[in-house]
Amino acid sequence: MKRVAIITASDSGYNGNREDLSAPVIEEIVGKQGYQVVKKILLPDDKAMLSQAMQEICDNNEADLILTTGGTGFSPRDVMPEATLAITERIVPGIPEAMRAYSMQFTKRAMLSRATAGIRKTTLIINMPGSPKAVRECLEYIITELNHGLEILLSEASNCARK
Ligand code: MTE
Repeated sequence: MKRVAIITASDSGYNGNREDLSAPVIEEIVGKQGYQVVKKILLPDDKAMLSQAMQEICDNNEADLILTTGGTGFSPRDVMPEATLAITERIVPGIPEAMRAYSMQFTKRAMLSRATAGIRKTTLIINMPGSPKAVRECLEYIITELNHGLEILLSEASNCARK
């Protein structure tokens, strides 16, 4: 069973002024796919804190997949892509490209998402937009293909371990 960590970036959520409605949507969609949510973290839009949380999960092998939500827009506090790229070893451009291309049918503002994706060790990290609606649209589209990618990622890791 693939393990998923969910990281929400939201200043107002972290301060208790807004309910996090996006993480439950992620939990529902990955649950239907047979993934296990092992960790849920709510952090402010702080690059160092977000990078550190992602790095710890990857380096301690706590999850196979990290799905983030929020912080991909143009607001000065939106730093999720930068926090992700700061700790990823390999970029995975195709996943955010696919999300943006697919999302254009719902809103042309999908082009405003700066979401990125990357791999650190054997963990795949994917940024989702912030709204529950956008999360649902993007994640339901990509989720069916993630298992194949994760299987390749994890089997390569076991090959290396045997050397
Ligand atoms: N993608 C989908 N599928 N549906 C949406 O409604 N909203 C867009 C975009 N991507 C949207 C979407 C909007 S309005 C913005 S500003 C960006 O995601 C960034 O969102 P974020 O700052 O909440 O991460």
